Amino acid sequence: MNDSGKIVVSADDLDQPVVIPVEAYLSADYARAECDRLWRKVWLQAGRVEDIPEPGDYLTFDLLDDSALLVRSEQGGINAFHNVCAHRGRRLVDTPAGARNASGRRPQFMCAYHGWQYDLDGKSLNIIHKDDWQGQLTEECTSLTPVRVETWGGWIWINFDRDCEPLADYLAPIPEMLDPFQLHNMRVRWRKWGIFDCNWKVAMEAFNETYHVQTTHPEFNKFGEFRGWARAQGKHSHIGYEAAKADDDNQKAKLRVGTGDARLSTAEMQVFTWEKANTNTTQTLVNAALRLKDELSEGTASGEVLQHWLASARADDEARGVVWPTIDAEHVGKTGTAWQVFPNFQIGHAVNNMLCYSARPYGYDPDKCIFEGAVYELYPEGEEPQPGWEYCEATADAWCYVLGQDFSNMAAVQQGMKSAGFTGPKPNPYMERSTANLHRNLAQYMGTGQVRKLR
Ligand code: FES
Ligand SMILES: [Fe+2]
Repeated sequence: MNDSGKIVVSADDLDQPVVIPVEAYLSADYARAECDRLWRKVWLQAGRVEDIPEPGDYLTFDLLDDSALLVRSEQGGINAFHNVCAHRGRRLVDTPAGARNASGRRPQFMCAYHGWQYDLDGKSLNIIHKDDWQGQLTEECTSLTPVRVETWGGWIWINFDRDCEPLADYLAPIPEMLDPFQLHNMRVRWRKWGIFDCNWKVAMEAFNETYHVQTTHPEFNKFGEFRGWARAQGKHSHIGYEAAKADDDNQKAKLRVGTGDARLSTAEMQVFTWEKANTNTTQTLVNAALRLKDELSEGTASGEVLQHWLASARADDEARGVVWPTIDAEHVGKTGTAWQVFPNFQIGHAVNNMLCYSARPYGYDPDKCIFEGAVYELYPEGEEPQPGWEYCEATADAWCYVLGQDFSNMAAVQQGMKSAGFTGPKPNPYMERSTANLHRNLAQYMGTGQVRKLR
């Protein structure tokens, strides 16, 4: 039977070649519809828990026409509200010009227009000439409107849909898979954001597969060939590397413990990654890799080099009060190297560091997005650097060499997809299944843009 062009509804069918319509990337109508159908329905990663430690600490999170105000309450919980004054709708907390978001600490919030005031629970504190409303200003109509908020992994998650499912149900099976990595203990080493010339999906799809590595990042080829996979996990997806016999192959492949003299290639790879990507490793791992040539004899098998290197880095960190979680190697292998949280957040996890990306629309222009990247690691208590969000153009100079390689495809893909000669993205069914699964799920929210069988 020929089911060419048949819509793919089940993730089970994504092992077959599919084609994705370009409307999800290019259509102005689609981009406008995303506001109500997607962004106001899904759980969104909106900030880090440690960014608002004390009562009155706040930050904002803006997405198209919505803005959320996240506030640490007097009781120590986190409240989230629509960032809009109940009086006449002025944005309550302004985002400073050129900044990604607002942040700070306030005992209460006062609207700059007519002075209505709100406490940290969003209740009205003071309204000038309140009697003029003849006693009809109820608590309900004078409070800030709540936004659903929960935490997981050290992040604050919000949902603009008050009837949404609980965060744990939405994220499943990610918490079960990643909780052992104790991501909530990691702290930011750097975080950058920029306004990029592509749709937010193009930006996310530059990182949700390993198929591009051999061509876009040719320097990695000399450290060995690693066959990557991508799997659908309901709304979400993850990627990793095929397991061989040795333990921890996913992380080994990510760290590129190479061929040849593994002591030297590991050190070379670590220095390259540290200097040219500034992601996926730490100073401790780099230093321990540089010692391998003195600590191990020539000809030591690569599996043993990996084990020695990770054990000595773990011991170095422990000596300075940084304790990596201990995780069953089989579980590490099952998790892969990165998770794509539907729709727009990626967590590249490891036991002692992580690299996260997100992208969201920049206005209703389908050709633009706000892209963010952040690297986290474990620090001794009290020594966390607490960097703010740095605005960066989409260049290698601003973001580092390897990320610049990824960025170099984005605007070119966005432009190329507009060609009358392009017949739609055809992701690799094995290595790029995350993209097919993203669009399979997007179509369910959007009611359009269905993924179809290629033949
Ligand atoms: S709009 Fe906020 S006090 Fe009037
Ligand atoms: Fe890449």
